[in-house]
Amino acid sequence: MKISDRIEETLLKVLRRAKLDPAPPKLAAALNYSVFPGGARVRPQLALSVSIACGDDNPKLSNASAIAIELIHCASLIHDDLPCFDDASIRRGKPSLHKAFNEPIAVLAGDALIMMAFEILGISSDITPERLPTLIGILGRSGGMPFGICSGQGWESEPEINLSAYHQLKTGSLFVAATQMGAISAGEDPEPWEELGARIGEAFQVADDVRDALETSHQIGKPTGQDLAKNRPNAVNELGVAGAIEKLQDILSGAISSIPSCPGEADLCEIVRKQAALLTPINYKNHNI
Ligand code: IPE
Ligand code: IPE
Ligand code: MG
Ligand code: MG
Repeated sequence: MKISDRIEETLLKVLRRAKLDPAPPKLAAALNYSVFPGGARVRPQLALSVSIACGDDNPKLSNASAIAIELIHCASLIHDDLPCFDDASIRRGKPSLHKAFNEPIAVLAGDALIMMAFEILGISSDITPERLPTLIGILGRSGGMPFGICSGQGWESEPEINLSAYHQLKTGSLFVAATQMGAISAGEDPEPWEELGARIGEAFQVADDVRDALETSHQIGKPTGQDLAKNRPNAVNELGVAGAIEKLQDILSGAISSIPSCPGEADLCEIVRKQAALLTPINYKNHNI
């Protein structure tokens, strides 16, 4: 089965389960609204690509890990869009969740998705229960404190922020979870997979900063110019367009060589090469700065 089908099918199963009696209809509909249709599903694709490269001996668990990461990601977007954070009224080209529903439902939907991420790992771990503790530890670390998304967003309330640290925490952490949980799900040691996730994740946020600075809301389906408006650290504001792209390329240049040796190494290199090309905005290379 194609990676994208594995992702959508597993997400559908989890979301269908969340609608069962006694689910309150509005919250159940909000969960569906925030997960479907998805965005690029970059993180679960990375997780599954790593599982496959490592032999994928327990596809049920690999699917669950990939989906757990996407659920945390969707939750982070819902919370990030709330008025108390980025106050964004569109996401993925449609009204953000609190606009389409209301703020209490948006807070609850984010919380529910986070809990459901851990639940799916638990109920998918019957065949290889020994892999569960590490998966839970890594997923929790990627969203929490001091190494995860909360830590990254928490820095927004401090007077000074280091750009790379901020990017690594708010975005890189979930990409590290993607590569490491992909490996653990296939019975491999997560440690050698950290660098690949960290590099793709940090580059991903630099690319997002470039889009925030240079594209229109219509092009990317979410508000733009927001980092400057809200005084958030942004690679373009700190380094200029050329500097941001140079940083992106620097980070990505080591990505391929960081891939640990594994049975599907060649295919994974190809996937990472394609992802790196997608992240490098060629049309900005000659941008007037
Ligand atoms: C948006 O992530 C948030 C960032 C970390 C930049 P994505 O660009 O992966 O969002 P979707 O899931 O494709 O909408
Ligand atoms: C990503 O940062 C933050 C998280 C959701 C953790 P951004 O604020 O730049 O993401 P977008 O641009 O709203 O997608
Ligand atoms: Mg935002
Ligand atoms: Mg952004």
